[in-house]
Amino acid sequence: MTQTIGLICGSLRKGSYNRIIAQALTTMDDSIEFRWIELNDLPLFNEDLEAGGDPKSVSLFKSSIEEVDGLIIVSPEYNSGIPGVLKNALDWASRPSKSSVLHRKPVGVIGATPGGLGTAFSQMQIRQTLETIQAHVLPFQKVLISQVHEKIDTDQKVLADEKTKRYLQVYLQQFRLWISNISSLETK
Ligand SMILES: Cc1cc2nc3c(=O)[nH]c(=O)nc-3n(C[C@H](O)[C@H](O)[C@H](O)COP(=O)(O)O)c2cc1C
Repeated sequence: MTQTIGLICGSLRKGSYNRIIAQALTTMDDSIEFRWIELNDLPLFNEDLEAGGDPKSVSLFKSSIEEVDGLIIVSPEYNSGIPGVLKNALDWASRPSKSSVLHRKPVGVIGATPGGLGTAFSQMQIRQTLETIQAHVLPFQKVLISQVHEKIDTDQKVLADEKTKRYLQVYLQQFRLWISNISSLETK
């Protein structure tokens, strides 16, 4: 059966390295249907706004997550933490708590940076947030991409580094298995 995987990029930057990494995933397995889920139109989270009913961009965002079998977040790190736009989006998607679209959703976390620590702090915070929401975060496989600017073909705007491609391929295989195994546990 074709699996559908949603891709969220935690950077809104045109030319984002993290988006290029996410784009590379889409070329790695023809049997997966990838869908981009964008953050640009989401308002800042505000419980007053939510009380009046989700704004249209928020309902669209939530239903896009609901419709995919799994979600992969590819995000930078800002000031040793989760980028604000991504945290804002996860806060919207976390509601209503315990029955949100992220509740029990298989989620993978990847990050890339021109720096040397591969977004380790950001990934810890993203995982912490997702675990609070009770998403099923892929626990054992991690991809932390350092010096990403040296791994990208900047003219073509594609991932050029073969080693990183192999890591991503393995990650994708593991994530596919994670989706299948978690859903079989859910139906038991
Ligand atoms: C406000 C800000 C804070 C940043 N803090 C970090 C950081 O803590 N760790 C890190 O590795 N890179 C940090 N960076 C550099 C980003 O990794 C870099 O800008 C990266 O290209 C952003 O990802 P993108 O290319 O997907 O947009 C920071 C960048 C900005 C704009």
